[in-house]
Amino acid sequence: MSLNPQLHDWRGKTVWLVGASTGIGRATAALLHKLGATVIVSARQQALLEGFVREHPGSEAIALDVLDASALKAAVVQLRARHARLDLIVYAAGTYRPLSALAFDRALAQQHFDINVGGALNLLDAALPWLLDQGRAGAGGHLSLISSIAASRGLPKALAYGPSKAALTHLAEVLYLDLHPLGLGVSVIHPGFVTTPLTAQNDFKMPAEISAETAARAMLDGWARGHFDIHFPRRFTGVLKLLRWLPDALYFRFVTRATR
Ligand SMILES: NC(=O)c1ccc[n+]([C@@H]2O[C@H](COP(=O)([O-])OP(=O)(O)OC[C@H]3O[C@@H](n4cnc5c(N)ncnc54)[C@H](OP(=O)(O)O)[C@@H]3O)[C@@H](O)[C@H]2O)c1
Repeated sequence: MSLNPQLHDWRGKTVWLVGASTGIGRATAALLHKLGATVIVSARQQALLEGFVREHPGSEAIALDVLDASALKAAVVQLRARHARLDLIVYAAGTYRPLSALAFDRALAQQHFDINVGGALNLLDAALPWLLDQGRAGAGGHLSLISSIAASRGLPKALAYGPSKAALTHLAEVLYLDLHPLGLGVSVIHPGFVTTPLTAQNDFKMPAEISAETAARAMLDGWARGHFDIHFPRRFTGVLKLLRWLPDALYFRFVTRATR
């Protein structure tokens, strides 16, 4: 079912991806560029962003840290001066380190909330006025937040990551309710395991692992269909979504056994 205006033809569209120096964000920026969009990439590692711009003529880079609210506001001022509109904003910035209650690290947990949630709030603070202007003018626009299938229920080693992604998913749901009436699109991405620098640290075989390029194609397919919840690969994320319906006792037993 189409919950959002469908995004099909990327020619002449302008897209800003925050968290696009590596991984899923970078692969998505590259695919959108190939399909004709003007792509603006942001993240902290300026050299990587500049490399992207060299390889993708016509794209732009704005280096920033999502923890720096004023840097995001300055980026929006810069973008508004150069572009008439933004068709899509993607929040792809994120961090993941395994964390368990048996070796709790308050600073690490906070860092996950700061980057995975606080950074998205800083982006909203900077970019919502522009999106709202576009919505009220009937010009549309779309905001997409990359969460994780780990948001769906508690998982081992996810003491910092899981709750931060659950908050991001919840944020997207509330944003949808507020922005949809203005004709603005809102989507939340729930990837399973994707081969990127973020998962390179995992010391276990990741089930149904896919490449960042495959993830990018799945995201574009979700935007084209107007989906709100874009999850992939479905052979893995579909199972995790089904597990949400299990009673707690069965779920905890199943996850303990499956991840032992
Ligand atoms: N890979 C997976 O299996 C998987 C699964 C589910 C969800 N996800 C989510 O997908 C998103 C992309 O992750 P990925 O797997 O593609 O990992 P990645 O390659 O490590 O990408 C993370 C991106 O976030 C940027 N970033 C991190 N902290 C930042 C900060 N403070 N300010 C600005 N940018 C920052 C990084 O760039 P700089 O270091 O240059 O700042 C990088 O561009 C994340 O939200 C992640 O949680 C990934």
